[in-house]
Amino acid sequence: MELKVPRRTTVDLEPLRRILEERYRPRDHQEAQELIVSACQEAQRLYGWVPPEAAEAIAEHLGVTINRVYGLLTFYADFRTRPPQRHFLWLCYGAACYVAGAGRLVELLREEYGMDEHGDTSDGTLSVHVFNGCLGVCDLAPAAQLDHRAYLGGLNVEGMRALIERLRSGAEENNGGAH
Ligand code: FES
Repeated sequence: MELKVPRRTTVDLEPLRRILEERYRPRDHQEAQELIVSACQEAQRLYGWVPPEAAEAIAEHLGVTINRVYGLLTFYADFRTRPPQRHFLWLCYGAACYVAGAGRLVELLREEYGMDEHGDTSDGTLSVHVFNGCLGVCDLAPAAQLDHRAYLGGLNVEGMRALIERLRSGAEENNGGAH
């Protein structure tokens, strides 16, 4: 299979390098292989996606090949290998959020906002990562996190529509998100 490496971008690799230095110290090659996915998750948490520079930094730090890193990045659907749009939303799809109606939010995003298989809405406003885990704020279910900062709670269809309107109008650019 031909490997498609995304175009280069400019990201600050320092935070990732610090985390790798502090927490990713494999004792042998086998352990290094096992740490790739988790290191990529750290990168995605930091940047909203795994930029090519971050993938290379991970490969270099762990002493594994870049092909191996991209092999795993493309295998797991949870990873983004292209940059998010203007805003990024982690939408929790864990058990508590699912029961509280997260599924309706996903439907809304697909049907009204043209969210594609990469989680991108058709107007370029929002990239959504539907997170099959728990954001750790179940009391806010259905919960989400906007732009890696503000947690949003008790989201319903109307609330999501209102959020997207604010994002489209630029109202959320500087205030760290809605509540
Ligand atoms: S399941 Fe969504 S925050 Fe815990």
